[in-house]
Amino acid sequence: MDAYVTLETLMSDSVTKKHLPKAGYSHSIAVAESAYELAVERGVCVDLATKAGLLHDIGHTIWETKGEWDYESYSEYDIHTIKGAERAHELLTLKDEDLGKARAISLAILFHSDSSQVSANVELTDLQRLIADADNMNKEQGGEHHNQEISFEQALQRIRRLDMLVYRHISMQQCCEACKFEQECKLK
Ligand SMILES: [Fe+2]
Ligand SMILES: [Fe+2]
Repeated sequence: MDAYVTLETLMSDSVTKKHLPKAGYSHSIAVAESAYELAVERGVCVDLATKAGLLHDIGHTIWETKGEWDYESYSEYDIHTIKGAERAHELLTLKDEDLGKARAISLAILFHSDSSQVSANVELTDLQRLIADADNMNKEQGGEHHNQEISFEQALQRIRRLDMLVYRHISMQQCCEACKFEQECKLK
């Protein structure tokens, strides 16, 4: 049996530490927290939702022109959903995440935004819609939400709290009845 992969494990990896600050810990954690709330409300798997929420912007690169954040060229040429889906999948499989879960999380990241047009004409699953909604709940004009920074330690504290909530939620069997990954969560 594979070990359960926590949010803390994902956040503490060097790949995450390298790429997540480009999107900002503040935004990434806020989306993971909103994803948790929405997952509880909608009966979607809290494990998949929080992991996809945390990693949804791991594909961001820094768009700068002459040292200044260039929102216009970012809006025009960005492919962070594609890069993110790939990076997250590599990270998850490196941590021995269940392959079905790794795929579901990766696809939720791929379709969380239509910035690179991959989600045009795609009918989103509940999980994919949830991540797009959680992201939209935590956006500000001009991409400002990527610039509000909190420290790694502050982010880690909040992610540990979320790990606890996910654990409690799954072990009390308050969700996952309809989740096809129920047996794979391994928290019970
Ligand atoms: Fe995004
Ligand atoms: Fe985002």
